Amino acid sequence: MSSHLDHIQSFKVMDILEAAKEIEASGEHVVHLEVGEPDFNTPPVVIEAAQRAIADGHTHYTHSLGILPLREAIAEHYLEHYGVSVSPAQIIVTTGTSAGLLLALSALCGPGEEMLLSDPHYACYPNFLGFLRIPYRLFPLEETEGFRYPIEEVGRLVGPSTRGLMVNSPANPTGMVLSAHELAALAECGTTIVSDEIYHGLVYGDAEDHTILEFTDEAFVLNGFSKRYAMTGWRLGWLIAPPRYVDTIQRVQQNLYISAPDFAQHAGTAALREAGADAEAMRQAYERRRALLVPGLRGIGLRITREPDGAFYVLADASHLSTDSLALSHRILREAKVGVTPGIDFGPRAEGCLRFAYANGEREIEEGLRRLGGFCEEAGCR
Ligand SMILES: Cc1ncc(COP(=O)(O)O)c(C=O)c1O
Repeated sequence: MSSHLDHIQSFKVMDILEAAKEIEASGEHVVHLEVGEPDFNTPPVVIEAAQRAIADGHTHYTHSLGILPLREAIAEHYLEHYGVSVSPAQIIVTTGTSAGLLLALSALCGPGEEMLLSDPHYACYPNFLGFLRIPYRLFPLEETEGFRYPIEEVGRLVGPSTRGLMVNSPANPTGMVLSAHELAALAECGTTIVSDEIYHGLVYGDAEDHTILEFTDEAFVLNGFSKRYAMTGWRLGWLIAPPRYVDTIQRVQQNLYISAPDFAQHAGTAALREAGADAEAMRQAYERRRALLVPGLRGIGLRITREPDGAFYVLADASHLSTDSLALSHRILREAKVGVTPGIDFGPRAEGCLRFAYANGEREIEEGLRRLGGFCEEAGCR
């Protein structure tokens, strides 16, 4: 077996989820605050479009870049929402943001070139980079600073072998949203930005989502339908690349994936064109859940310095309970029957933290808080 895969880590949240399923199989109820998956079903208008597409025979390979109506709908979305002009010719429809990430990083980085990555970060980034044998350097995000990117420090880290900087806003696991000013400054750091914008559309309060393309053309943008449109199982996303990379990416796509699923692309077109009201209703529901979860967690003694502004996560400091977040998550699951994600899943700086997802309903969140409160009281940590 290839030894270069030895350092690919398991996604620890999945270990927790599987342990939770075992408890549920024995008849006990578990509150799920661990998984970053919307509890909503895909909007009916999207499902109907997929059913129509299947009935009309859209069950084949498509053009490797994706069907033109979808790429046009994506381009229109950038113009309408961000005022940015993107050509359908630089959009590659992918089997989820995950596939887009693999295509972008493989086209961007050559031997000896490295990426810059925040710590904490989305758990899979180091594994994508490890799989592609791309080295990376971490820059720390401080909980007390609301996990914002230390822009001057990032600028100082850019060196001759730096090929790019991973940016994720709204962020998993922190819920942090970078401002237009911060994104503009990152775009000036002197390296290519790989911007994972999968949580765009999920911002709350005064926060705004800006695409990196408002500030630079020298960027790869990843996005998808999983989160905003509750379409995780459809495996559909897109990548926007600087035009000179498209030919290479297209060749890799043709060989690795051939194309994204045909009928799912028709469904995605309907999502962008017709499911805006459904997406907004889901966003408002997440905003209500955030208003329940964040004060609730603070009330049971977990530290959240700055309220998260986006995605559907909050990363809370629980180091007064334990500095071993994996052991703590298993203990909370066993004793309180609440699934939470250990901070260590997201990098060494998140050790001592727990990530809570508010992708579950308000009643479940209330019950989860009640159980967690009992757990903290028993652990003598109030
Ligand atoms: C930051 C981030 N990027 C990418 C993904 C994967 O998205 P997709 O379902 O589009 O492959 C996730 C999923 O949780 C995520 O949190």
